Amino acid sequence: MEPQITDSDLSEQIKAATKDSHVRAENTELMLSYQRGRVTLQQYKLLLCSLYKIYEALEEVLDCNASHDAVAPIYFPQELSRLPALRSDLQHFYGRGWREQMQVPDAALAYVQRLQQVGREHPEYLVAHAYTRYLGDLSGGQVLGRITQRSLGLQDGEGLSFFSFPNISSPKLFKQLYRSRMNSITLTEEQRRAVLEEANTAFQLNIQVFDELQECVSCVSETEPAVRQRHTPQTQSTAA
Ligand code: HEM
Repeated sequence: MEPQITDSDLSEQIKAATKDSHVRAENTELMLSYQRGRVTLQQYKLLLCSLYKIYEALEEVLDCNASHDAVAPIYFPQELSRLPALRSDLQHFYGRGWREQMQVPDAALAYVQRLQQVGREHPEYLVAHAYTRYLGDLSGGQVLGRITQRSLGLQDGEGLSFFSFPNISSPKLFKQLYRSRMNSITLTEEQRRAVLEEANTAFQLNIQVFDELQECVSCVSETEPAVRQRHTPQTQSTAA
């Protein structure tokens, strides 16, 4: 039987509170390129680099706070962890030296800093960050995976592990479970308001990463050396 979800549940409130942010995220240049089926290998590689840094921080703070009352119910490392998948995708595109070749926009580093700060000071806000990324990956993210595969002509799931959740047989059912777990978290009214605000911050941090990444891609094609130097001070020949 499906769990009963009501307007006062965190899962509904967070969805309503981030509706406008979601529209803004969908309308970033990068996501529009995606929706038009025009994602390039360079965009995708830069996205993977950013996501790697983001999930490295997110999964580390979730692990560190796994037994916290507001984290334990939504802690699903077996089902959700993205880091091993991102490692494998980065290795596919950059080869064994992927760590040295990664290009990470400053906005991704700002996102990482916020995640670390929340992990240290307000673990009860982590649900906002986990929701924004993981439920997004299990929703529109699934479509983005198919678009990436088609746009880049990738075969047999190569370089596409990020989009695949082998330990989740039904994203729809898993999302229902996740929402009911979110709704089981006990929060004061003040904490609940702060979580909703943090979810909008999480969307905004994603938007900033997409915008910088897109700017980087556009500039590289126009004035290649200068921008590449700015984003990869110690590396060469990493552009797609
Ligand atoms: C949900 C599409 C980008 C976060 C959804 C759903 C769709 C969708 C259709 C609803 C799925 C359902 O109700 O089962 C898209 C498209 C995108 C995009 C087409 C870009 C081209 C993003 C981004 C983020 C995000 C960039 C965050 C970084 C979410 C979240 C949900 C969601 C958290 C779950 C909402 C909820 O049920 O509470 N998306 N999305 N999406 N998306 Fe996106």
